[in-house]
Amino acid sequence: MTFLQFQDVSHHYFTPTGYTKALENISFSVHEGEFVSIIGPSGCGKSTILSLIARLIRQTEGEITIRGIPLQETDTEVGYMLQNDYLFPWKSILNNILLGPKIKKQLTEETIARAHQFLKDVQLSHTTDQYPQELSGGMRQRIALVRTLMTDPEILLFDEPFSALDYVTKLQLENLVAKLMKTYQKTAILVTHDIGEAISMSDRIFLMDASPGTIVKTFEVPEKLREIEPFYVRRQPEYQPLFDEIWHHFDGRDAGRKEPSDVEKNDR
Ligand SMILES: Nc1ncnc2c1ncn2[C@@H]1O[C@H](COP(=O)(O)OP(=O)(O)O)[C@@H](O)[C@H]1O
Ligand SMILES: [Mg+2]
Repeated sequence: MTFLQFQDVSHHYFTPTGYTKALENISFSVHEGEFVSIIGPSGCGKSTILSLIARLIRQTEGEITIRGIPLQETDTEVGYMLQNDYLFPWKSILNNILLGPKIKKQLTEETIARAHQFLKDVQLSHTTDQYPQELSGGMRQRIALVRTLMTDPEILLFDEPFSALDYVTKLQLENLVAKLMKTYQKTAILVTHDIGEAISMSDRIFLMDASPGTIVKTFEVPEKLREIEPFYVRRQPEYQPLFDEIWHHFDGRDAGRKEPSDVEKNDR
């Protein structure tokens, strides 16, 4: 069943001196429980897509719907996780996690029990009384994930959440996130620069091009790869051909990247 749909969505950022066409005529849909990745050159509008879904900005044209209802009219909870964990250094780990429910006046025994369950899921039960600065980057991202899950979002948005982490930590987090999204049956969209990460975590991959941002190709990840943990996906015989195919398109796009039109440049 279709969960999220973009129909001919365009987005322009207006500045005092001109405008930037960030997205042009984007159409795609994401099914309930699906894991989709978006890859593409820097500036092609990946973060803009996530900001639209998170209702941080509103599209200039087109329609975005959740289960057929315009996004702005729904109260669907959206979780957003970025490269920076935005944990408050003066609050303990548990208080960082419980801050959302507290603000919403939903701090019940059940909520607290849920926080402890999520902490167990990410193997950080022992950190409740610690402070963010006492934790490693990977641990902090796991706490940020717990905090995101606390709002019980139906869809989770990840904007390059692993890009600042060392390679081993990144692989461990890919496994963990993929597992939790399956366990809790969440729909997820991941923005990443890493083709391997996209293949190993996703059901489908959207490749974008810049100036203006469009989706140029969609790749289906073979069923067999979808069923195994991200870490092991990279070792399967089906992995490399898909990697090469995406690389071929990605590389071509990046090298032949169009510059903004002269009109747009002058407008800036
Ligand atoms: N707040 C903003 N104001 C003006 N232009 C912006 C703003 N945010 C992004 N842009 C521009 O929109 C385009 C798409 O940006 P973005 O969605 O951040 O790309 P990506 O995440 O793929 O790197 C870029 O040209 C960027 O400079
Ligand atoms: Mg971005």
